[in-house]
Amino acid sequence: MDSGSDFSGINEAKFDMGSIYDRPDPRAYFSTLQELDYAIPAKAKPLFQKLISRLRCQRGQEEVCVLDLGCSYGVNAALLKHDLSMDELYDHWTQEELARATREEVVEMGQQFFSELEEPEDLKVIGIDQAENAVAFAEEIGLVDEGLPIDLERETLPVDVRDEIVPVDLMISTGCVGYVTEKSFERLMQPLTERRPAWIANFVLRMFPFDGIEKALGRWGYRTEKLDGRYFKQRRFVSAEEQEQVVEQLRSQDVDPTGLEAEGQFVAEFYLSRPEAGARKLPLRQLLAA
Ligand SMILES: C[S@@+](CC[C@H](N)C(=O)[O-])C[C@H]1O[C@@H](n2cnc3c(N)ncnc32)[C@H](O)[C@@H]1O
Repeated sequence: MDSGSDFSGINEAKFDMGSIYDRPDPRAYFSTLQELDYAIPAKAKPLFQKLISRLRCQRGQEEVCVLDLGCSYGVNAALLKHDLSMDELYDHWTQEELARATREEVVEMGQQFFSELEEPEDLKVIGIDQAENAVAFAEEIGLVDEGLPIDLERETLPVDVRDEIVPVDLMISTGCVGYVTEKSFERLMQPLTERRPAWIANFVLRMFPFDGIEKALGRWGYRTEKLDGRYFKQRRFVSAEEQEQVVEQLRSQDVDPTGLEAEGQFVAEFYLSRPEAGARKLPLRQLLAA
């Protein structure tokens, strides 16, 4: 029997960022990642926006419902709902004034900052993350409308949140596949396909094979397309050691790092999974060009 993907060996090549994922507020997350030029949510934003506008058109609805797997402190939600750049987000969460603030003050300043921005995009965002504090913070600030602190690698989707997932139009992830495998996706597919099958858009580091997830989604009648020839910089390596380990890991998987990871950065690729018929009718490149 197929026991599913196990990314634990591959993850050994990567510096462990676990200590910044679940702090009571996002200051350490943003200051650490800013130093490493963490940029994948910004790189992903125009593609997500394109998909949201296509779905809005196709489904004839104003509000689009997005599920962000591995939502952390609501990073993608902030960029998409408020049309912010990653630099603006870094500037807010790492500003001098917040350095000695209590969590309560950080929350207040966050709420004020986001409420003063232009009218937000008509999006509902549901966020799932195993990091309870991060999800709670994203919800308190109002970046995610619903925050679900769940680890779908270890538990099934709680019955009482199933109905929240049914209206989702688009499921997204940045920087999360590798921590999660097809197990998390499989546990979401029943509600995601119940009414109008959601589109599933993932930015995935090249070191994590996507075939396990592709196969699992295929069992639900989904076709996955990779945006060939497009590479998205995720972040700089923490150290020469991390780079060496990742480059070696990629070579062992027959993935050529020349000009990409060999230049000092993690690189992600984009995968879109949609119900077979629609994906055949309008392939990814055409969908994005339309
Ligand atoms: C690199 S961060 C990316 C966060 C956010 N998407 C972004 O791009 O800024 C990885 C996230 O995956 C989350 N994560 C790790 N394991 C997870 C799991 N089993 N289920 C859900 N989220 C998980 C972490 O808590 C963390 O928030």
